[in-house]
Amino acid sequence: MESSLAIPALTKDLARVLIDADTISRRTDELAREINKAYANIKGPLILVGVLKGSFIFTADLCRKLTIPHIVDFIALSSYSGSNSTGNVRLLMDTRENLEGKHVLIIEDILDSGTTLDYLIRNFKSRKTLSVKTIVLLDKPERHTFPVELDYIGFTIPDVWVVGYGLDYNEKHRTLPYIAEMYPQTE
Ligand code: XMP
Ligand code: MG
Repeated sequence: MESSLAIPALTKDLARVLIDADTISRRTDELAREINKAYANIKGPLILVGVLKGSFIFTADLCRKLTIPHIVDFIALSSYSGSNSTGNVRLLMDTRENLEGKHVLIIEDILDSGTTLDYLIRNFKSRKTLSVKTIVLLDKPERHTFPVELDYIGFTIPDVWVVGYGLDYNEKHRTLPYIAEMYPQTE
């Protein structure tokens, strides 16, 4: 059933809708199908680790499309203030699950420089996991400085600041149902 709620209009600080809600939903279906297939024969549940806060909506939508046994967990990291990278990663909250002996899929909102995922992949591999794979909703290839291997990518986008569907600018716009491009901000 289609939602009867109005789609929130773009505010003055947003340049355009980059990816609308239907397109995100259709792509999430495709990604879920691929993941269902790839992990069809593993022993035990797949551990999904959503990286807070940016991936909470993508994680919620993706996990509800999975038919394989899975456990949802989260981790909180911090490496950004506003739209400028501070370059270092801080672990704010660890997973509840013990990852040893488990297949782990990290769910990230966006791959920018690669600092966050590079840190997380190495950290998780050191926990004697059976496998560590990554899915990102968005990838900004122009910004990569760490060669991070991605297993699943939702959309490749240009080097612009995006908000909505979990992504924010200083906590603004996080719950927009679409992904929008922001005008460059002067703080
Ligand atoms: P790195 O550089 O570690 O960055 O790959 C990943 C994290 O940076 C944040 N990020 C963004 N957040 N709009 C956002 O709301 C963006 O355009 C954007 N680019 C990077 C995000 O938290 C991501 O996890
Ligand atoms: Mg993030």
